Amino acid sequence: TGFITLDTGYKNTGSTKSAVTFLDGEEGILKYRGYAIEELAEKSSFLEVAYLLIYGDLPKQAELDKFQNDISMHTLIHEDMKKFFDGYPSKSHPMAQLISLVCSLSTFYPECLKSHQTPEEKDLTIIKLMAKMTTLVAFIYKKSLGHPLIYPKNKYDYVTNYLWMTFGQRTEDYEVNPVVVSAMNKLLILHADHEQNCSASTVRMVGSSDCNLYASISAGIAALWGPLHGGANQAVIEMLELIKEDGGDTEKWINKAKDKNDPFRMMGFGHRVYKNFDPRAKIIKKACDDILENLGIDDPVLEIAKKLEEAALTDQYFIDRKLYPNVDFYSGIIYRALGFPSEMFTVLFALGRLPGWIAQWKEMHENKEPINRPRQIYVGHKDREFVPISSRG
Ligand code: CMC
Repeated sequence: TGFITLDTGYKNTGSTKSAVTFLDGEEGILKYRGYAIEELAEKSSFLEVAYLLIYGDLPKQAELDKFQNDISMHTLIHEDMKKFFDGYPSKSHPMAQLISLVCSLSTFYPECLKSHQTPEEKDLTIIKLMAKMTTLVAFIYKKSLGHPLIYPKNKYDYVTNYLWMTFGQRTEDYEVNPVVVSAMNKLLILHADHEQNCSASTVRMVGSSDCNLYASISAGIAALWGPLHGGANQAVIEMLELIKEDGGDTEKWINKAKDKNDPFRMMGFGHRVYKNFDPRAKIIKKACDDILENLGIDDPVLEIAKKLEEAALTDQYFIDRKLYPNVDFYSGIIYRALGFPSEMFTVLFALGRLPGWIAQWKEMHENKEPINRPRQIYVGHKDREFVPISSRG
């Protein structure tokens, strides 16, 4: 079978050619379809960026209106899906629920199972997922509180509608706070894609067997859940809380992170590709200051996070290994200021990453990529003689 190159963790192996996202880890550059992340985060809306990622170009106004309108037509989920929520234990992790709910969409919309969907059919499958994701994520949260579900209001744009279903009261005059809408747009944009990371590669891997979009994305959500990937945002806030309760001695925790006999890692630090800084973290750190000030919130963990960052960036261990704060380091502080509990943080990451996953899945199909099937170097037993169970000593 020829020569096999071993690259565990795919540290230096390209799995595909992609025109979606450009990432330069040395220079700290991130671009979606050629547009700098800094500019998109400042000037764009999440839905506009979703369109850009999925269809390749920024939408004209009429295209964006149609995209929004098509999505609004599909925000309801099948009423039978609500029964799932009653089945999950009330304190079960939102990510576990999201994984199964997204996969379950393929039972309600079986047209997604059709191999070789026409572009129109594929588009409808995508629109339904974009639409129903917000409703599922909002319902998961409402159920976790034991509160009544709030149904989508289609007069709202994508992000406002999501926030309405999450925080909306059933009074006639309740308005979603525009500061929160703008913060949420920014966060979702910053999370929208990140080239061939663990979850995107998973979506492509699963999709390469011609598995339907909903199941492929569900697999991506599972990959995201781990604390080394998207689950880090929940782990960061829990770590910061722990440090606060422990008296705020950042030096002690830095030493713990450096200790090779201690499994503790500084959560929200380090990245496989970024070796100078994570451009998303830079934007989020600044946004964190602005948003907390705007909302009049003083969160003591923000000070701890800044102290930790400062101490780590001057520590030889972190310098030698090029460890910098990543996207997850400050995002949780903002989510918390917006009113989300920490168990929801990774779900919010998934909501933001959805268009990226869809774009990766769509590109893989359009490029007619072959089934992904890595090889291995076998290191197990060679030839063994079978011994009947009665004779095994
Ligand atoms: N705290 C302490 N030491 C660290 C950390 C950390 N957060 N990250 C890496 N190191 C050390 C690691 O122990 C190793 O040291 P040595 O060379 O002495 O053995 C060296 O740095 C290289 O680390 P690695 O684990 O080989 O690097 P990797 O590219 O495989 O892992 C990472 C990247 C992001 C998984 C890792 O840095 C990490 O676990 N960070 C904490 C979790 C985290 O914040 N994840 C979010 C990543 S960004 C958003 C996303 O992708 O979802």
